[in-house]
Amino acid sequence: MSIMQNSPLFIEPSSFHAERVINFYPGPGALPLPVLKRVHAELFNFNGTGMSVMELSHRSEEIQDIIDDSVERIKRLMGLSNQFEVIFMQGGSSLQFLMLPMNFSHPGDEIDYVDTGYWANKAIQAAQSLDRELKIIASSSDRNHTYIPDLTKIYQDAHPQAKFLHICSNNTVVGTQFHNFPKLPIPIAVDMTSDFMSKVIDTDNLSFIYAHAQKNIGIAGATIILIRKEMLNKMTDNLPEFLDYRTHIKRKSNYHTPPCFSIYITWHILRWIEEELGGITQLENINNDKANLLYDFLDSTPFFHCSIDKDFRSKMNIVFTLPNENLEKQFIQETTEAGMIGIAGHRTKGGCRVSIYNGVTKDAVKTLIEFMDKFAKQHKCKDSI
Ligand SMILES: Cc1ncc(COP(=O)(O)O)c(C=O)c1O
Repeated sequence: MSIMQNSPLFIEPSSFHAERVINFYPGPGALPLPVLKRVHAELFNFNGTGMSVMELSHRSEEIQDIIDDSVERIKRLMGLSNQFEVIFMQGGSSLQFLMLPMNFSHPGDEIDYVDTGYWANKAIQAAQSLDRELKIIASSSDRNHTYIPDLTKIYQDAHPQAKFLHICSNNTVVGTQFHNFPKLPIPIAVDMTSDFMSKVIDTDNLSFIYAHAQKNIGIAGATIILIRKEMLNKMTDNLPEFLDYRTHIKRKSNYHTPPCFSIYITWHILRWIEEELGGITQLENINNDKANLLYDFLDSTPFFHCSIDKDFRSKMNIVFTLPNENLEKQFIQETTEAGMIGIAGHRTKGGCRVSIYNGVTKDAVKTLIEFMDKFAKQHKCKDSI
């Protein structure tokens, strides 16, 4: 049924929570309920302005304060030294696939990529459209992207010619994750779209990070970019003003109309992490518990199978299969009917995928596991009759 037919224009606020489902979508995905409640409370009158944030001028003090405070909170939560610039942009991670090579390499320069599956490949394809010398220095395609290649030996023998190395830290589609970043003799740029702000990370070895917010830290529209300041000395000149990172740094992410509402949601999530949870370590503990619960369950039953190497399993996107495709279809249909949404695997891959970003609670994961357990028992019994 069309969403327009289904949704009345005015809804009583009291009915909001009861109607909510458990959301395991891979992104845009679940937002923390306390954040939604806060946004709801502020929707008609943000901070005494008599307007919602959606109606405020981007040149107003309030919007610039939200941007500046968000930047400060990101720096504080991530324990970033003053060595990084932090900016917000639009255009999602797909724009960063292009801007990164455009800003940090010239036509003809070598740039290195690691192929760890779907999104890593999208970044490679985008860079191929520019006039650069692309090298794929490692790939996990030999084993269907079920692991993360070891990068430590790659540059041992030769000093790299490339301007930077690009990796995708969490592979949303295939379900693998870099759990740490090696020290390499080359600037490392990371697509962190699906695990940014989900755990403590050591940024010492990283030069550039980008993440569209819609998985762990907001909604679509706001892309967060971290640039190590020393990289600013290595930038290409004569770029169009809009596509030059320095423009957005100089103008404090307000060079043109920024995605004010999206940044505002990110700001509230940052406040939730800092003020309600107590920081990124506490958040990481919750995220680890959720992932461990689900992987421990998957490993405890032969009915469900996760083919990702244990050392590289994603704590954000957990992929698994059932004994056959019919059972997978039935499982996805029944979880949906039970109010658990978004479990189908990526269209290129099939199977199941459960995305457990920051907004997904531990209780939601426990509810899913109970359902999975019952489903496995029912179907094992049927199979053995
Ligand atoms: C790891 C990763 N990188 C990049 C993207 C693309 O992001 P966008 O839609 O913002 O261009 C996605 C989207 O899911 C992703 O998961």
